[in-house]
Amino acid sequence: MTEWVPEGVDVTAPNAARAYDFALGGFHNFEVDRQFVTEAARIWPEVIELAHVNRAFLGRAVRWLVDAGIRQFLDIGSGIPTLGNVHEVAQDVAPDCRVAYVDLDPVAVAHAQRILRDDPRSVAVRADLRDPASILGHRDVVGLLDLAEPTAVLMVAVLHFIEDDAEPPRIIREISDALVGGSFLAISHGVPALGTLAGQAAVSQMYRRTPTAFRPRPVAQITGWLDGWEPVAPGIVPINGWRPEPDECGAAPVAAVGVVARKQPDGVIRTDYPPPTGQTPY
Ligand SMILES: C[S@@+](CC[C@H](N)C(=O)[O-])C[C@H]1O[C@@H](n2cnc3c(N)ncnc32)[C@H](O)[C@@H]1O
Repeated sequence: MTEWVPEGVDVTAPNAARAYDFALGGFHNFEVDRQFVTEAARIWPEVIELAHVNRAFLGRAVRWLVDAGIRQFLDIGSGIPTLGNVHEVAQDVAPDCRVAYVDLDPVAVAHAQRILRDDPRSVAVRADLRDPASILGHRDVVGLLDLAEPTAVLMVAVLHFIEDDAEPPRIIREISDALVGGSFLAISHGVPALGTLAGQAAVSQMYRRTPTAFRPRPVAQITGWLDGWEPVAPGIVPINGWRPEPDECGAAPVAAVGVVARKQPDGVIRTDYPPPTGQTPY
């Protein structure tokens, strides 16, 4: 586990980035984060599986986006670098892919900057999704990505850490306005866990100890944010049902949905995407 603490980091309170890192089996977390995840898993046992399933969704979405022709990614709420980072997945398929990582958490950003120091095609910056202009206008992001070209903006497992009063629909609109037609959004978001609503609610309460809330939302609310975006098949579905690999098919739906959606060039509706494989959409 990490011994190195970037300046100004509070190691006495858990946080979402480090808790997720621990749930995924990573090493950049502190005792307080490990206790937090252990306690959360006691009251909502699916929480660790959910982290792994979410990471797998991210990987499939990135591979699909590269196949769809995308060569630049803005990964917001990117987390602490772990297995299957976006630049690794994307550059494995197309080495010319560029990736700008953005996170609020200084540990996540510091580790990403260390890992990326020899990669001229990737940057990591500290910024807040609640202020999209600070991301879209960030010198390092502007220096790497050309938003006049189609871009994939990834907001994977981050919007459920944004409170309603920070206006997720506004955030998506402001990002959307900065992108050209043919760009994509990939989102995953926690939804009410019908089998264990009480456990999930207790974990949401636990997040009050962290700097960010955890706010699962109904699918209809998340869908409502996608005005002007066309979800590619299979639409907005439980993340483990979004184009699963053959060995991932048949699992019970988890309590998070995912979607990849395309911003339409004016008046054009594209219908020639590759068909989804595996599982029937939920
Ligand atoms: C669960 S992790 C997701 C990491 C990665 N996207 C993935 O899906 O594997 C959520 C990340 O969102 C970050 N985050 C939370 N609120 C944020 C905000 N307002 N702006 C930027 N990042 C934020 C956290 O620091 C954390 O690293």
